[in-house]
Order: sequence, then structure tokens, then C-alpha cells
Amino acid sequence: MRMVDLIEKKRDGKALSTEEIQFIIKGFTDGTIPDYQMSAWSMAVYFKGMNEQERADLTMAMVESGDQIDLSMIEGIKVDKHSTGGVGDTTTLVLGPLVAAVGVPVAKMSGRGLGHTGGTIDKLESVSGFHVEIENDEFIRLVNKNKIAVIGQSGNLTPADKKLYALRDVTATVNSIGLIAGSIMSKKIAAGADAIVLDVKTGAGAFMKTLADSEELAHAMVSIGNNVGRNTMAVISDMSQPLGYAIGNALEVKEAIDTLKGEGPEDLTELSLTLGSHMVYLAKKASSLKEARTLLENAIKDGSALNSFKIFLEAQGGDGSVVDHPEKLPQASYTFELEAKEDGYVSEIIADEVGTAAMLLGAGRATKESEIDLAVGLVLRKKIGETVAKGESLVTIYSNFEDVSKVKEKLYESIAVSKAKVEKPTLIYKEIME
Ligand code: URA
Ligand code: CA
Repeated sequence: MRMVDLIEKKRDGKALSTEEIQFIIKGFTDGTIPDYQMSAWSMAVYFKGMNEQERADLTMAMVESGDQIDLSMIEGIKVDKHSTGGVGDTTTLVLGPLVAAVGVPVAKMSGRGLGHTGGTIDKLESVSGFHVEIENDEFIRLVNKNKIAVIGQSGNLTPADKKLYALRDVTATVNSIGLIAGSIMSKKIAAGADAIVLDVKTGAGAFMKTLADSEELAHAMVSIGNNVGRNTMAVISDMSQPLGYAIGNALEVKEAIDTLKGEGPEDLTELSLTLGSHMVYLAKKASSLKEARTLLENAIKDGSALNSFKIFLEAQGGDGSVVDHPEKLPQASYTFELEAKEDGYVSEIIADEVGTAAMLLGAGRATKESEIDLAVGLVLRKKIGETVAKGESLVTIYSNFEDVSKVKEKLYESIAVSKAKVEKPTLIYKEIME
């Protein structure tokens, strides 16, 4: 087999066979296929696309390029959840303990990563003592015992994807539905998920800005999952504004605690219950979505969801008393209010711009080496569609420095108030099963 022939075949719009796709991914991973040929192939894929079979083959070839996590020692169906980007998305922190409380095993491998706020691990590390440096057998033991544990990313997962994603980034080939879908799904499958719930964000703050694009990506990922034997479904949810109120590490942990108590923001609560119901259903802990939702609502009401969070934190060295005393989380030295300049309706809160404002405070990492300030961030006081009076607070700014003029400037640019009445945006657009 020669790579040049496979590039030509894709260039001419023909489908590649399983063996051909395996040849490409293997060769690219071990270096026998050079970047320039892989770039040409990626561009051909960008223009000609891939059919369902090719997408599934690409995904599995990338899964097989590195280690695969073996979760077979964990009892039950392991359901993983993945959100495509978003700002201040606290759902992972809420969903883990929530579904664990009704018996769904949550074996989460997580990262730190770049972005507006830290990754799930950074957020959890705002709980004093909590750590994810645990051995594999301890991880398995904890999931079997408590139904939830989080471990830091280790091993050599999907090296083909790492290499290909970096190449796509510099060859203008990131934005191909098939390549994105394969990239995301390969990581979930290599991490050992039996079933996958996807939260595909749509809107200004999302990777996919339009509903049509988000839907296409969702269908592509769901069909890959189902074609390779992982029960997969997707929810398309709004990211035209940040989810919940809090954007920042400790602030989001506090928000997750509130939500697990049944006192969280309406949108975060609703999305968590929706995604959670699908997780419980795919894990076969309920025979219908309705029953699954009732189980989760009861776990919030009777305190078991909050207790599951506490047990999880303590099992990994954390101070579990934060669930009753969130004031023990890192606190910022200063708070400031962003006052509305006029009366009206909040009409726009551009999620990624607000995220950038949180980053200016130090809540996120710009480079791998940056230090995160776990205490700082933003809490929205108004969401789209709400009325605001001149002088009322739109956002509370939690900062460890006194001069927040740049942050305020950024926030004023990203939040709009209009005279005309504005409707609340739809939160959940679609649930896609195939
Ligand atoms: N996120 C990924 O992990 N891969 C892509 O290709 C795009 C977004
Ligand atoms: Ca949030």
C-alpha cells in the first residue's frame, strides 16, 4: 500500500477501506507517513468527507494507536459523559456524585488542560487535601466501593489523535465533522467507556456556533459510538451564554454543592438532570428515562447526592466538610460588582468573552506552565432575558488584585442590555439517539 494512492483515492471522493485507514493511522503514528502526506490527506478528507464506516474505522484505528484503559474489574456498565467545550460548565462536578448516588459507576479519568478555568481536576483541587495521584488498583477499588473516583490522565492514550489534532491545527483542517467526531470519540473509547452521553454545546460560546452544525456533529459521534458497540446518545444544549452562574474553580465547586443540595441555578440543574437521566438509563439502572429522572431527583432531595460528593472527596484525601461549609474553599481577597449602565433586559452574555474575563483574573491557564488561582472568577447575577435596573449588579468579580478595570472593560463588551424585551434562550434543543 502506498500513501500517495490513498490520498488520491480520497481526493477523488472515494471511500477508503478499513485496512487502508489502519495503514494511514499506523504509519502516521510510527512516523513512516510524513506530515506532508498526512496534511494532504486531511485536506482531502476536509473537502470530500468520510462515510459512516470510514469514521468508525478512523476512530478505532486511533483508539488502537495507544493504551486502552481496562475497566472490566469495575462492576456495572461504565457510562462516560463528554461536553464539547463551553464556559463555566459545572455539569461534570454535579453529574459524577449525582449518578453515583443512584449506583452508576463513575470511573473518571480527567485532565487539567488549557482554558478559561481549570479542568475538572483543578476545580476539585480547590478542596483542601484532595488529590488524583492514586494507583490504578486503588482507583478501581474506590469506584467499586463508592461508585465514583477520579484519576489523573496517565499512559499513552490515543497518540494518533494527539499528533493528528496538532497537524490539523496548523493546516486549517480542524473543522471537519468526521475528523472532530473521530477525535473526540477515540478518547472516550480508549478511556474505557461502555456507553457514552455527549453534551454537544451550541451557540456563541461553543465550538459549533449553529444548531445545524451542532446537530451534524452530534449525529456523527452517536453513529460512531453505536457502530463500534458503545451505546451512545447526545444532547444538544445552549452555550449562547455560560451555564449556571459561576465561572472559576472554587466558585464552580461551590455551585456544584448548591446544585447537589437542590439549590443550584435552574439551567445547570435541568441540564444535569437531563444528562444524568440518560446516563442512568444507559447504565441500566432504570427502565425508562422518566424513572431515571425520578431516581436522581430523589437523590438530591434525600441528601444522598451531596453525601456521595462528600464520600468521594474524603476517599481521595479531601476535606469533605466543605459540602456543609463551602466557606472553607479558597476565597478571593476582593469582590467588585459590575454595575448595569442602564435599565433594560439582558440580551447577550457572550460565553467565551466572559470566559476570557475570568482568565484575566487568573482562573484559567493560557499556557501549560501558567499557575491557576483557584479562588478567583465571576458569578453572574443576571442571565439572558432577565430585567436589570441601572446600578444593579450584572456580575460579581472575585479577584486577588485590586485593579480590575481591564476585567470590567472586557465584561462590559461581552454583556449587552437592551430596551426591548428579550426571551430566555432554549436550554435543550435536541436529544439524539441515532
Ligand atoms: N476537540 C477534540 O478533542 N478534537 C477535535 O478535533 C476538536 C475538538
Ligand atoms: Ca457554571
